[in-house]
Amino acid sequence: MTRTIAVNTGGGDAPGLNAVIRAVAVSAHWRGWRVLGILHGYRGLIEHGTDGVLELDRSAVRGIGHLGGTILGSTNRGDPFRYPVMTDGKLVPTDVSELVVRRMRELGIDDVVAIGGDGSTALAMKLLERGMPRVVAVPKTIDNDLPGTDVTFGFDTAVATATEAIGRLHTTAAAHERVMVVEVMGRTAGWIALYAGIAGGADVVLIPEIPFDPRAVAEKIQRREARGRHFSIVVVAEGARPAGGEMRYRASADAFKEHGQLGGIAEYVAQEIATRTGKETRTVVLGHLQRGGSPVASDRVLALRLGCAATRFIAERSESGLVAVRRGEIELVPLEEGTRRLRTVPLDDRVLQTGRDLGLCFGDENEGTFHPSIPAPPFVELSPPKSGAVGQ
Ligand code: F6P
Repeated sequence: MTRTIAVNTGGGDAPGLNAVIRAVAVSAHWRGWRVLGILHGYRGLIEHGTDGVLELDRSAVRGIGHLGGTILGSTNRGDPFRYPVMTDGKLVPTDVSELVVRRMRELGIDDVVAIGGDGSTALAMKLLERGMPRVVAVPKTIDNDLPGTDVTFGFDTAVATATEAIGRLHTTAAAHERVMVVEVMGRTAGWIALYAGIAGGADVVLIPEIPFDPRAVAEKIQRREARGRHFSIVVVAEGARPAGGEMRYRASADAFKEHGQLGGIAEYVAQEIATRTGKETRTVVLGHLQRGGSPVASDRVLALRLGCAATRFIAERSESGLVAVRRGEIELVPLEEGTRRLRTVPLDDRVLQTGRDLGLCFGDENEGTFHPSIPAPPFVELSPPKSGAVGQ
């Protein structure tokens, strides 16, 4: 009897989702399996029963590897344990998890490839307890902060988009001698701000891991002024906050969505800078631009590797697990690993230290200081090439 596997994409999208879907489908077809795509997380099964799936045959996944978004659709309001059901004229969080599991059984699904973030992995674990078929989770977020894996696809693309934007802002900032404050994504982790800030040549980078002092930021800009640099670029992660202050939200969480919508920190920083330095400031919020568009080559390769590995694990292993990248290798690790504390930027991170060495301000007092716990890189003596060796 041939195997039937299902794929779904949950939570915020990330460039590379379609490459994972394609890789899972193509590598499963080679094995003679049937592949179904569940639409919009688990919503397809809840709202449309066994019609809420897409047959992922060869033609359905042809030419999608380079496309952003997800052909299956996604949602971050589709938790089957608190699904919005209209009851007495209002939406009430309702547990429809058994319905989801029943519909999977009706479709003859043997295994599920759940592509999502920590929330999706936690959800998969709960659904397994309800009797959902075996799950292989594939970690996804542009924020690069998922536990259990060293990297996530979508991050390089988001960094490339933000870096390009920062580059464009440089020229207009210089022309008008302004301070441009760029808000990038990153709820709990500042990876995007850090990498795009360094790559884009920002002067100040503010990340959630380092609560900032607006005075330190203003002083950095004044020091640049004194050196004849009359413009500055400040990159701020949406989850950054001033020391002793709070994160800024545009909308709060509700019964169906775990997190509120962050936003507004760039405005705060810009106003602080304007008041303290007298400089003209402008803000730019990159927002979902960072999630959109085609994945860059490295994200495509990573996504394709993860998708093929998921199929391989289904073929060769019997347990559920998370497809994780560890020191460059892909491993199947317990699902729980994907739900631990989010992976934030450690204060002795190499790239953070590079920023400090370059004189970037991170909103604290440590501008340009070498972190004592980081030794200088080791000196490696290369052995001379052997005579006649090829490709040295
Ligand atoms: O995927 C994570 C993320 O990119 C966060 O950085 C951001 O706060 C969130 O998604 C926004 O998601 P949405 O607007 O889709 O709810």
